[in-house]
Amino acid sequence: MVRPAAPMDATEEHVTDTMAWDTYARRKPGGRREKNAKGETTWFNWTQYPDHGPGVEVLGDRAAACVLELGCGTGGNLAHVATLGHRAVGVDVSPVQLNAARERWGDLPGLELHQRGALDFMSETAERFDAVYSVFGAIWFTDPGQMLPAIRRVMKPGGVLAFSQRPPVEGCYGCQASYINQADDPNPLVVKRWDYTPDMWTALLKEHGFRHPLVREMAPAEGWKTGTLLARALASGG
Ligand SMILES: C[S@@+](CC[C@H](N)C(=O)[O-])C[C@H]1O[C@@H](n2cnc3c(N)ncnc32)[C@H](O)[C@@H]1O
Repeated sequence: MVRPAAPMDATEEHVTDTMAWDTYARRKPGGRREKNAKGETTWFNWTQYPDHGPGVEVLGDRAAACVLELGCGTGGNLAHVATLGHRAVGVDVSPVQLNAARERWGDLPGLELHQRGALDFMSETAERFDAVYSVFGAIWFTDPGQMLPAIRRVMKPGGVLAFSQRPPVEGCYGCQASYINQADDPNPLVVKRWDYTPDMWTALLKEHGFRHPLVREMAPAEGWKTGTLLARALASGG
């Protein structure tokens, strides 16, 4: 059973999230395969299924762009962005995830990793990005009322925002609880996530100054039931 959440201050919430995501990382070690089905050593995957769905082209075709990933985890997608010659900046709240990312990809030119909460990082950076993305990452786990304005502020006009997450359960919209099981404790850790339909995401993106939003639910890999919600929009201006 999950105990009702007592009110927390921002720092306390931050520490709880870091603990929860470190626990997730320890319970899901391994990271990405050495090669994908095409024999490539780096690749981009927006979905929860291997060798499935669109690739890095969703982020547009600007050469030598500055790209930011929010909640980069063990860094497989970010590594691919770096190998294409872009500046690839990854932010993740979990030191365990980032240690794994550094160990595997730390030597790649152009790749930079920061152990920070996404909102904290974006409030501190002076850099402006051509593309910002998140794959089942920080955008899913942060209130879009805070996240979307923060992203808009760090994007160059005309830049691409894209993110993927699980589609909502019908009728369960807005803030939901995600449970992360702990090895020696029957009480799971709880993190918040924000679930919306494609139409709801479209309205939120427009409300926060993003143009041409395209939000859709992609079909799952063969034999699976749950698809993937993929959103793409442009930052206004440019
Ligand atoms: C489900 S994992 C996905 C990781 C990675 N994007 C992937 O596709 O494998 C979610 C990741 O987002 C990170 N995360 C969650 N909330 C975050 C936040 N507010 N700021 C930064 N990272 C966050 C977690 O630490 C975790 O690594």
